[in-house]
Amino acid sequence: MRFTVFVTAALAAFTMSVEALRNLQKFKVQTEVIEGNQKFDGLWASLYHTGAGTADVYFHNNRTAAFSAFLNHTQFQWVYTGVSQIPYALNLQYQTYAAWGPLEVSPGYGSDYYGKGFVFKNGNQIVDKFEEWTGWLVCDWWHQVPQLFWTQIGAKVKVIPSCAKVQLIART
Ligand SMILES: *[C@@H]1O[C@H](CO)[C@@H](O)[C@H](O)[C@H]1NC(C)=O
Ligand SMILES: *[C@@H]1O[C@H](CO)[C@@H](O)[C@H](O)[C@H]1NC(C)=O
Repeated sequence: MRFTVFVTAALAAFTMSVEALRNLQKFKVQTEVIEGNQKFDGLWASLYHTGAGTADVYFHNNRTAAFSAFLNHTQFQWVYTGVSQIPYALNLQYQTYAAWGPLEVSPGYGSDYYGKGFVFKNGNQIVDKFEEWTGWLVCDWWHQVPQLFWTQIGAKVKVIPSCAKVQLIART
């Protein structure tokens, strides 16, 4: 009896420490196409400078050049080498009457709702538990390179040839 209680407690402690270890652990982000253009498969995420402290997430095929990121609980933080000592958070940007919207990386710990829902799922997939988020989309877009978007609830997404629905996989 005593032994059973001890084992249960030990298992609970082990499970918690695995979660704790994952928090703040650095990874690089790789795409896995689930629907659409296969050329977007296996690409690595980096940050595309768009202004003072802001960036868009884009993808290329060089793992070494990819940026590192980590989850701080439900905040998605990038290790931005430009300015150290400043946290950079990934935030969704809602697009009215649209099937998908952009994201922005900006200084801070993530805005309420749009920057506070990121979690691991099925091991190393990164998803957003925010209720308006339904998935990740990568498209050749205004930077003329593959760029990250999110699909919004309420829209039936038709995957056009310049896009693919993807999973984002955390690779350590
Ligand atoms: C990949 O990125 C690294 C680091 O920026 C660079 O040194 C290397 O030349 C790149 N490789 C290719 C094939 O572009
Ligand atoms: C995690 O986020 C909190 C704010 O939510 C912040 O105070 C803390 O410094 C962050 N930790 C790291 C390692 O960025």
